[in-house]
Amino acid sequence: MTISEYNFAGKKAIVRVDFNVPLNENGEITDDTRIRGALPTLKKIIADGGAAIIMSHMGKPKGKVNPKLSLGQIRAAVEKAIGCPVSFAPDCAKAQDAAKALKMGEALLLENLRYYPEEEGKPVGIDKEDPAYEDAKKEMKARQKEFAKTLASYADCYVMDAFGTAHRKHASTAVIADYFDADNKMLGFLMEKEVQAVDNVLSNIKRPFVAIMGGSKVSSKIGIIQNLLGKVDKLILCGGMTYTFSKAHGGEIGDSIVELDKLDVALDVEKTAKENGVELVLGVDSVCCTGYDFGTFSVKPGAQIKVFPSNAIEAGWDGLDAGPESRKKFAEAIKGAKTILWNGPAGCFECEDFTAGSRAVGEAVAQATAEGAFSLIGGGDSVACCTKFGLTDKVSYISTGGGALLEAIEGKVLPGVAAIKG
Ligand code: 3PG
Repeated sequence: MTISEYNFAGKKAIVRVDFNVPLNENGEITDDTRIRGALPTLKKIIADGGAAIIMSHMGKPKGKVNPKLSLGQIRAAVEKAIGCPVSFAPDCAKAQDAAKALKMGEALLLENLRYYPEEEGKPVGIDKEDPAYEDAKKEMKARQKEFAKTLASYADCYVMDAFGTAHRKHASTAVIADYFDADNKMLGFLMEKEVQAVDNVLSNIKRPFVAIMGGSKVSSKIGIIQNLLGKVDKLILCGGMTYTFSKAHGGEIGDSIVELDKLDVALDVEKTAKENGVELVLGVDSVCCTGYDFGTFSVKPGAQIKVFPSNAIEAGWDGLDAGPESRKKFAEAIKGAKTILWNGPAGCFECEDFTAGSRAVGEAVAQATAEGAFSLIGGGDSVACCTKFGLTDKVSYISTGGGALLEAIEGKVLPGVAAIKG
């Protein structure tokens, strides 16, 4: 079943969205991209004359109630965005009465699904090494099914529209689908769009294909980097990863972030790139600082800022952004690309002093897009960069997924998609 074909008139639809949106200390939403992303689906349900039961997680409450992660904080914003009355069910597993009382043309937002450990389905309070772990796991899986069945009992049909969480095999993203027949479960519009965007990058590649991977750790990106080495023409590796590569070649990296146990992985990436004829582009210089506060994203009073070659950073200095030569190199590599994937910033862009690298990447991506490239941007930080630099309308597609997008691009089948499509 596809959502465009489905008529929601007179039906209650339970919709898994990803409203794991960033909140400030006052509980206000600082980026509503994910809420806006789910609107086409929610609005269609209401416009057809149906009712929407909206469910999501927020953060990682690890199976416990945590008021700081309550979806109640965003109820009013969701109501405003959809434009219909939205009530709130303070216990997602005991919302039978609220679901029953829900009128057509209205919506009900359920409290954070992850207040229940059953959502993730992982045994709590028991170590993997414990001999009783396997039994605990089995028991939790059975409880997860029950939990999914309860959620399913609220509605006539199920819509999976949480791309950001589609790489999780959770009660609400996958298991619940078993309780609906094929004609009454479907992907939402956002999922369809995201899957299409991934397909554009994976199966519909126009060359040259340039991928830009940033962020601080090689270890968290190695799966996708290896996969991309079989697909791209050029791979730009930037951000904190730079220093693991520098170190692997015996460079001096001062106090910069490094994964000393991944030096061989970095050398392996270089070797595979060479074998595959992929041009690997790494930064050559870095904007460094003697005192950066990662908690407040600010330069400590009296700290200095200076550019060093990325392999000759003095002790006491921390590489925090791509230097001017690296920025030129990145922009040059992006120029003329026809397919672009960008995930991860080129520096600590949260602080004005270290935005230049990510800005240079973003602007080069926008320029290439204006010249006909398809550009896909994913991951919270690179999306935040696009917003910060006013580039959201200048790239082809901004994904709401971080981990989910990377797994999809690695070629993995997302459980949230498999649950619907089989
Ligand atoms: C995300 O923010 O990437 C999604 O909401 C998934 O969250 P998770 O990594 O906690 O499953």
